[in-house]
Amino acid sequence: MNEQFLQDVKAGLSASPKSLSSQYFYDQQGDVLFQKIMDMEEYYLTDCEFEILSTYKDELLDQFTSSCDGFHLIEFGAGDAYKTKILISFFLSRKVQFEYNPIDISENAVQKLVQDLRREYPELKLLPVNKEYFSAVEEISHHDTCKKVILFLGSNIGNFSMDGAEDFFTRLGSELESGDQALIGFDLMKDPETILMAYNDSAGITAEFNLNLLRRINREFEADFDPGAFYHRPEYNSDTGAAKSFLVSRKDQKVEIGAIPMKVSFNEAESIFMEISQKYKTGDVHRFAENAGFRVKKDYFDKRKYFLNSLWEKK
Ligand code: AVI
Repeated sequence: MNEQFLQDVKAGLSASPKSLSSQYFYDQQGDVLFQKIMDMEEYYLTDCEFEILSTYKDELLDQFTSSCDGFHLIEFGAGDAYKTKILISFFLSRKVQFEYNPIDISENAVQKLVQDLRREYPELKLLPVNKEYFSAVEEISHHDTCKKVILFLGSNIGNFSMDGAEDFFTRLGSELESGDQALIGFDLMKDPETILMAYNDSAGITAEFNLNLLRRINREFEADFDPGAFYHRPEYNSDTGAAKSFLVSRKDQKVEIGAIPMKVSFNEAESIFMEISQKYKTGDVHRFAENAGFRVKKDYFDKRKYFLNSLWEKK
């Protein structure tokens, strides 16, 4: 049993207002649903980043090899590496010396990715690290002095609060050495309708993605959530850039979580805060870099300027 998950469920559902952490969305079913989200027309983020990496792959290679020939390509939250494969196949075609180190909170995702990459690119030097992001970087630094390039794509950083993102980059800055680089994906502020549609798709997949966390709690912690008794409510605040998702109780109800054990009461219309997907201004991105000891080497945008991949170098 995942003890940390259980403790987080207990704390989140005892708090007022109630919350659950989106880091637990990604079990086997959650991975499948997230895959479907990334394939959706409304979820523009994937296409934008795909466009950026395809357009600038040559230039990115020059940037990554600017201070030495070989490097570690370390990806936080690698998932199925759909977009990273653009870089991997291009680098391999250019016979670049690099090792790919995927890291993901979903063990299931990493195992599938490794199998897939070994089949597709037998020549790829591949070493997955099954650890928390920063411990993995530390371990890689221990056994090799080669330069590191961190990839943190997909606006995964947006699932942190602004303060959480600031802390994350400070930690990243302290783990890296001078000359190491990081390519970070940020979803930018844009018209609210486009953002809301990305989190409120017509097929209801994002709703299922949120409800799956209740199902996961049922499966893993002997709970009796009725997912049909909750609905998904996304919101976007165009002043702060915060897109948030909630599950709202359709009625007064009680839910039992056997593994704790605890009984949770919900009033009709009471919400559980599920996820933040923060949207940024370019200025926020530059401030993060500066505060964490990085210099911005270059900003790469898609044609519509919906998304930014910002390339940083540790000073
Ligand atoms: C993984 N993360 C960047 C996604 C996002 O856009 O916040 C997760 C997601 N949630 C709903 N749709 C996608």
